[in-house]
Amino acid sequence: MKMDALRLIRTRRSVRRFKKARIPDAAIEKILEAARWAPSGLNNQPWRFMVLEKDQKDVLADFTHYSYIVRGADKVILVFLDRNESYNYAKDIMAIGACIQNMLLYIHASGLGACWLGEILNKRKEIARILTISSNLELEAVIALGKPGPRPKRGSRKKLNRLVIPL
Ligand SMILES: Cc1cc2nc3c(=O)[nH]c(=O)nc-3n(C[C@H](O)[C@H](O)[C@H](O)COP(=O)(O)O)c2cc1C
Repeated sequence: MKMDALRLIRTRRSVRRFKKARIPDAAIEKILEAARWAPSGLNNQPWRFMVLEKDQKDVLADFTHYSYIVRGADKVILVFLDRNESYNYAKDIMAIGACIQNMLLYIHASGLGACWLGEILNKRKEIARILTISSNLELEAVIALGKPGPRPKRGSRKKLNRLVIPL
């Protein structure tokens, strides 16, 4: 699929329903490759990833209202901030956001679908305990991904004139 950058950005939607299909490891590696080329303050690259599938993935479903998304996805990518690499919390969190958007756009460009899950962070401590995550790693997002099911509803955004502050 070839499309220009703006069209790629505009046509990406959160995908919450997936087909039962496996995503090959090679595709996951490319998604993480897109992630690691995100910009970060001082180029500190504070992101860390964990990929879960099958039963390990489904354990996470107990920690979110969006359990159907986790269960329906082929895999989930947990995105952590490595506090040992952190130099400025706000900037590091922005870098993590850039890294996640890189993934979402690459996933979309590859004909796959994903949903960024944030509500699950309400249970980040419980998740860290159950997955025995090292204490320097702070969970920032879970990305559920798979082959897209039914096409999501059309996206909507505020008009540009509500976003640009006049001088
Ligand atoms: C920080 C963040 C947290 C989000 N958390 C959730 C979530 O927990 N569950 C969910 O279904 N979607 C979640 N989303 C997806 C948003 O609902 C979605 O991006 C927004 O409604 C715009 O829709 P679109 O992605 O299709 O353009 C999250 C998105 C972001 C950026």
